[in-house]
Amino acid sequence: MTKGMFHKAVTEDQLKVKLCINNLRKEYVGGTRDTFVALDKLSLQVAEGEFVSVLGPSGCGKSTLLEIIAGLQKRSSGEISIDGLPIEKSGTKPAIVFQHYGLFPWLTVQKNIEYGLKIRGIDRKTRNKISHAHIEMVNLGGFAKFYPHELSGGMQQRVALARALANNPDILLLDEPFAALDAQTREMCQRELLNLWKQTGVTIIFVTHDVGEAIFLSDRVIVMSKNPGTIKESIPIDIARPRDFHVRLAEGFRKTELHVRLLISENGAMVAIPGKEGQHG
Ligand SMILES: Nc1ncnc2c1ncn2[C@@H]1O[C@H](COP(=O)(O)OP(=O)(O)OP(=O)(O)O)[C@@H](O)[C@H]1O
Ligand SMILES: [Mg+2]
Repeated sequence: MTKGMFHKAVTEDQLKVKLCINNLRKEYVGGTRDTFVALDKLSLQVAEGEFVSVLGPSGCGKSTLLEIIAGLQKRSSGEISIDGLPIEKSGTKPAIVFQHYGLFPWLTVQKNIEYGLKIRGIDRKTRNKISHAHIEMVNLGGFAKFYPHELSGGMQQRVALARALANNPDILLLDEPFAALDAQTREMCQRELLNLWKQTGVTIIFVTHDVGEAIFLSDRVIVMSKNPGTIKESIPIDIARPRDFHVRLAEGFRKTELHVRLLISENGAMVAIPGKEGQHG
């Protein structure tokens, strides 16, 4: 298995580093455990427009990592830069989408999407134009005046994606965005996310527990280990795009899937892949 910092269908010298994390450490201080080192010696570079997934056992610090990049948590030490500028000085603010949508229940789809724009002082006419474009982008035409409780989980998650993208972020951070969805809705949302990524060219860091989902979507899969959380391996995914669901059946896909599962399982014990029991390798 090749290890690589980047992987894209362009040559190395064309790649521009979007996000650079160097020797990141995060200690949670003063909780039940007193001081807990959640992340340590974590270094990661993400190229502009790259789609990177992050996998790892529960508690290895995936959400902590995203929250630090989003500026929602303070790091203890280490450097983070966007476009070569320290994150504090960079004008770029990454957008984040969580597992539980985080929509405002008292606001319509349109008002939810416009929320960040309004805070930034963007005028009503421009807000309307942006929200309608994004409602169309996530295939929710006709639902602008609906409230979140009137939508399915998949629809709500698409609103959350539209709301994040309406602010035109350079970096989109997704923390298990499809975990609460049924398998069919999840596949539809995956396709939609790939379309949005293609349309916008946004750099994506996608946290998931679903190994198949990570491989299917990504240019590169990052596996983390825990105690303390750090990066164990970076695995480029050499599957041509556009990808359809058949790629999941290919031998290369299954081999990568098994490799990643073994990395995630802490004791290194064999883990079965659905439909391939007894055929490891
Ligand atoms: N506010 C906090 N105070 C103290 N410890 C925390 C806090 N937030 C997270 N932790 C600890 O940091 C570690 C990493 O948590 P984090 O939520 O980042 O993990 P994760 O990889 O996202 O897990 P999961 O896959 O279950 O979502 C865990 O051990 C957790 O208990
Ligand atoms: Mg988490």
